[in-house]
Amino acid sequence: MTVRDWLTQAADRLSASGVASPRLEAQVLMAHCLHVDRDRLLLLDEQDAPHDADVLLKRRLAGEPLAYILGWKEFYRRRFEVNPSVLIPRPETETLVEAVIELAPPEALCVDVGTGSGCIGVTCALERSDTRWILTDVSREALHVAQRNACHHAVACWFLQADLLSGFQPKSVDVIACNPPYVAEADPRLDPSVRKFEPAVALFAGETGLEHLSRLAVQAAEVLKSGGWLLMEVGEGQTAHVLSLCEKARACIVRKDLAGIERVVIAAY
Ligand SMILES: C[S@@+](CC[C@H](N)C(=O)[O-])C[C@H]1O[C@@H](n2cnc3c(N)ncnc32)[C@H](O)[C@@H]1O
Repeated sequence: MTVRDWLTQAADRLSASGVASPRLEAQVLMAHCLHVDRDRLLLLDEQDAPHDADVLLKRRLAGEPLAYILGWKEFYRRRFEVNPSVLIPRPETETLVEAVIELAPPEALCVDVGTGSGCIGVTCALERSDTRWILTDVSREALHVAQRNACHHAVACWFLQADLLSGFQPKSVDVIACNPPYVAEADPRLDPSVRKFEPAVALFAGETGLEHLSRLAVQAAEVLKSGGWLLMEVGEGQTAHVLSLCEKARACIVRKDLAGIERVVIAAY
């Protein structure tokens, strides 16, 4: 079968299985197999489709996220390696990154808590080269991915396996950025493919989804220096509760993501 015919059939099958952008995804999978940019595919229309493409298509039809199949996801205009030990970076997390880039004081010592792929800490370290970053995660496998991403983007960070902020000295840090797990275990709104393929440790935070955010807010009040900042990504509808957790903060503000959902709680200490 030619590449052109494969693309047509693959798009039809992806569409039938409910994929939102079937033509685009078929092209991305084929480009990945042929090691070319998507816009070069037209030149290869008449070539035989490689067998690998069917294997990848089968995985996608079974619901596996495209990013895990490709092994990368774009975040803040850069590519980040991903695998099933890390959450796939989400566009809404760029709202948190933008706030950190804006607010971190010069020379700040910053911590990305629950770094996963490292997308927050690595991006902020690149965009604000005057700040220093410690990237932490409870998962050793995730830290390995974050280390490779930092190395790939040629940024120097420190890495620490830790439960949230345990091990940090009181009043030692200027900025804490965190996109913690914040989904309630039984939340029926969670996309089944996210539940099936992404790591549970990156998603779930007890019965209410607030377990990590609650512990983090208490620890951060101890660990931050006077004048420090705590920036947390939160789930839809969690803002009011999270604001009530920041009782020791001097001031708090909330930022919305591009979809208009209250997404980031920023607390000044
Ligand atoms: C929602 S993911 C965020 C990953 C990445 N920062 C991002 O924004 O794409 C949460 C991350 O927190 C980590 N994590 C879960 N429980 C933790 C804990 N108690 N202490 C530190 N990290 C934790 C998970 O392994 C996961 O990498």
